[in-house]
Amino acid sequence: MQRGPQEICSEQTEIPLFGSLPSRPAIHTSTAYLCESPRQADERLGGKRPGYVYQRDGHPNAAALAEKCRRLHGENSSHAVVTSSGMSAISLAMISQLGTGDHILLSHRLYGRTAILVEQELSRFGIEFSFADFCNLDQVSEQCRTNTRMLVVETISNPKLRVVDFGALAELSKSRNALMLVDNTFASPIVCRPFDFGADLVVESLTKIMNGHGDTTLGLLSGTEAVWERVPAALSSWGMTSSPFDCWLAERGVSTLFLRMSSAANTAKILAERLSSHPQILDVAFPGLQSHPDRAIAVRQFSSLNGETCFGNMITIEVNGGIEGATRFIEATKEIPFCPSLGELMTTLSHPFTTSHRNLNSSQLAKLGISGGTIRFSIGLESADFIESAIATALSGLPNPV
Ligand SMILES: Cc1ncc(COP(=O)(O)O)c(C=O)c1O
Repeated sequence: MQRGPQEICSEQTEIPLFGSLPSRPAIHTSTAYLCESPRQADERLGGKRPGYVYQRDGHPNAAALAEKCRRLHGENSSHAVVTSSGMSAISLAMISQLGTGDHILLSHRLYGRTAILVEQELSRFGIEFSFADFCNLDQVSEQCRTNTRMLVVETISNPKLRVVDFGALAELSKSRNALMLVDNTFASPIVCRPFDFGADLVVESLTKIMNGHGDTTLGLLSGTEAVWERVPAALSSWGMTSSPFDCWLAERGVSTLFLRMSSAANTAKILAERLSSHPQILDVAFPGLQSHPDRAIAVRQFSSLNGETCFGNMITIEVNGGIEGATRFIEATKEIPFCPSLGELMTTLSHPFTTSHRNLNSSQLAKLGISGGTIRFSIGLESADFIESAIATALSGLPNPV
């Protein structure tokens, strides 16, 4: 029987390419993929053969993005998946590896939502947790318990940009039979490849500099062969799947990651030096400064670009005048938006005291070196002269330190 309007409307449409090869990847929005036979479906679903069946289990745009990011992490990164957000990548790393009765040891400098995930969510499933100063490995070792299964740390912490000795941490985690999970969001694989120093699992919020255009929320979880078995099934069962359109956008974003990070990191290095001598700035935190407590570790662990260590694109300053000083500075900065995120094309600033760290008490803030005058910059693609002039103009309204 011939197909009439009723059938034509509902039939599958093929895009006619006539053998032409598009120079950019297509977006595959299909929620399901057709199977030729029950055997093929079974083999694909069982992971015996590559191929897609259902978008929540995996789709071509996620696979292409994950593979590009995995390769950026080098040969020690065996697998990678894209998830719906940075937080879902962190959740997936923990849920796929931990069970009731396990203990997880967290850096006390972690992104607040990661701490909340463990304190308020995973704890309800009987997962024990505690915090330690990961810049003090003796303290980390003391805090390890017989049931410690995972140590969690960030490559560059927020907002004081502290850097942990990964090699020593990896040795410690292996000796305790625990996995080392690294949140590499602030660094990206352009600045640091934690697998090269013994990490078992690495996450990045692709929402930040990896995509870099401020228009997608996505995460990446990468891991070694030894830890991967449960990851694909956990991703599908907990429903952490990414959207094909977001993956397509992020793949385009990652295409310029190297150039964006190189440029922004170079600008950050110049600015950190220049801001260090400004009279209204009491302190500048940047891992490349001689004054930074972790500079030597950063030099060892961070990649070289054009023969020089790349320290990333984040700078944190302490302005004179505490919360009033910071408020006056932020209200006066016309050229640098107050944006509680990072890794955008433009330079942005954040005020940890009233945003990311607002739930901490005064002793916790003091431990992290955060005050009302702390301002964190995510350096973007403008010139160093432009950003310096914008900062100097805003600082000119502040009182001089006594
Ligand atoms: C270091 C770090 N890790 C993870 C996340 C979570 O990423 P997302 O917002 O994509 O869930 C953030 C978000 O700010 C972050 O700063």
